[in-house]
Amino acid sequence: MNIFGSFDQHVAVVTGAASGIGAASMTLFRQAGATVVGLDLRPGPDIIACDVSDPAAVDAALTEVVDRHGRLDIVHGNAGINIPGRAHSLSDQDYRKVMGVCCDANFYLVRSAVGHMRSNGGVFVFTTSMCGVGATPRSPVYNMAKHALIGLTRSVAVDYGYQGIRAVALVTGPTHTAMVDDLWPEGVLRQSLVDSTATGRLSTPEEQARVAVFAALPGSAYMNGGVVMVDGGATAGWNEMAGRMLTLTAPA
Ligand SMILES: NC(=O)c1ccc[n+]([C@@H]2O[C@H](COP(=O)([O-])OP(=O)(O)OC[C@H]3O[C@@H](n4cnc5c(N)ncnc54)[C@H](O)[C@@H]3O)[C@@H](O)[C@H]2O)c1
Repeated sequence: MNIFGSFDQHVAVVTGAASGIGAASMTLFRQAGATVVGLDLRPGPDIIACDVSDPAAVDAALTEVVDRHGRLDIVHGNAGINIPGRAHSLSDQDYRKVMGVCCDANFYLVRSAVGHMRSNGGVFVFTTSMCGVGATPRSPVYNMAKHALIGLTRSVAVDYGYQGIRAVALVTGPTHTAMVDDLWPEGVLRQSLVDSTATGRLSTPEEQARVAVFAALPGSAYMNGGVVMVDGGATAGWNEMAGRMLTLTAPA
């Protein structure tokens, strides 16, 4: 017996679908029975070219999805970028770019999608980050945007829950994708990312996508407005210190 259930005629949109967690999410939503359309700067099979930081482009893409498939049930707001630097070193353009993709885009998705969802209900799953509950050094705008996304998740729950539209935020931990390879290539910083977890490794994109699918399944309808940790225990404690203590002291 499949206690988790599956999608039935549900149509899902995944942003940032050309790479990493979004690509895995496309695959797993499809495997769970949904019709899936991606939105990304980089188009591809089943991926519409769309800059999600552009409100008109988001409106047009969601209308295209509904024209093509007749309905919209699930939005996985997942696209994200980071431009590292402390606040004094970041330009207006850097600020707008990161806020545009990580924060504004998800507001535009909600604003456009709820109109399409209203009669059927629906669900938003947002890929936030450990940076949504704490601050990663040298990422002030990313940290702000990911915190804000948790605020949007809670707002959707409060404003639309009674209409059967809900939202869940995933606190994604360090995951082996192009983003991490670009920002933290092999070396001490990469290792410290691993050491920040209690699990002692990076997540796979599939481990993140699986939780997105679980949160979106009709059987998970009572998950609404919540923040789900998918971070290998990274926010659970002082893991780097714990790791050193384990190597410096005799095992109990
Ligand atoms: N990888 C990690 O360790 C990690 C940790 C926490 C949170 N996250 C979050 O997970 C999400 C997915 O990241 P990933 O690690 O898979 O990165 P990734 O770089 O592999 O994928 C990001 C995708 O977003 C797309 N994208 C960027 N700007 C866009 C725009 N303006 N419009 C449409 N698409 C755009 C890119 O083309 C790319 O396909 C992001 O929101 C990221 O912040 C990642």
